[in-house]
Amino acid sequence: MSTHHDPSTDLTTRDGAPLPERFEDPGLEGHRARVGDSDPKAQKRAERQVVVLFTLSILGTVGAIVAYALVPPGETVGSMRLSNLLLGLGLFLGLAGIGFAAVHWAKSLMNDHEQAEDRHPTASSEAVRVKAVEALREGVKDSSIGRRGVLKGAMVTSLALFPLAIAVPLIGNIGGDWDVSRSKRTMWRRGTRLAIDPTGRPIKAADVTIGSVFHVIPEDLHEAEHPLDEKAKAVVLMIRMDPRDLKSEQGEGWSYDGIVAYSKICTHVGCPVALYEQQTHHILCPCHQSTFDAADGARVVFGPANRPLPQLPITVDDEGYLVAQDGFNEPIGPSFWERLT
Ligand code: FES
Repeated sequence: MSTHHDPSTDLTTRDGAPLPERFEDPGLEGHRARVGDSDPKAQKRAERQVVVLFTLSILGTVGAIVAYALVPPGETVGSMRLSNLLLGLGLFLGLAGIGFAAVHWAKSLMNDHEQAEDRHPTASSEAVRVKAVEALREGVKDSSIGRRGVLKGAMVTSLALFPLAIAVPLIGNIGGDWDVSRSKRTMWRRGTRLAIDPTGRPIKAADVTIGSVFHVIPEDLHEAEHPLDEKAKAVVLMIRMDPRDLKSEQGEGWSYDGIVAYSKICTHVGCPVALYEQQTHHILCPCHQSTFDAADGARVVFGPANRPLPQLPITVDDEGYLVAQDGFNEPIGPSFWERLT
């Protein structure tokens, strides 16, 4: 006859001893004295360090505001990057200074006696509330904020100043001179030849076979003042399919003999779409899987993007080279632009 074995009876503590019936509350760790508890010099040093951290926060906040005023984002990617970097550094210093100062203050200057309180019903009695107020007062006294005037001043100034680092750029940009048409501007013009990226060699329609895909840039890209910035906006995905597969275009006659060209910048949040599935004519964005139908005016068939990839109207010139009929007729990139139009 077999007997039933209860595996829970095999459980032991880490030392191999059998589990006790009841676990005892281990209580709090013993109190470890800090250097500052017995050494007034160490306390003074810690106080100075906290003041330095608050001062760093003040400098960061002021720096962010000055950077916002002196280094505007400008029109190029480089200047936007610099402006964002300086603003970010200022905000980081402003906030991190306050954070580190608060932690350092609490750890090195405030009373570090551990206190434990047993659970009790949620509603406190009057006596407990009075006690809580007393404890709060005691805490304020413990933080020695009344006695440490410089520290108090540094803390109040840094806390009061920091919101300015966020508020000034935010308020400064309200009702700004938003020129949405700027976001439509790329290097594509009427007659600009489509060239292969990165060689810049112009493409003849006759050289594009059905099923092929090209990453395309404007032929005159190298003449731009900031070619990389311009390329980031103007880059296009060109696909040739059987003209009979083409269901729709974004404009009358915007394709040429089954050749279509769409902005490569995803309308979700701007990743480059680069994957083309020849059988389904689907263009896939690798970032969040938005899928566009190249045969149907780049309509969104899946994913978070909510508008098609803008289509570049194309045709051929006298020599058979593929050229733009015009620039894009809507902003390229993430959809939030269209909400401003
Ligand atoms: S950026 Fe393309 S799907 Fe998100």
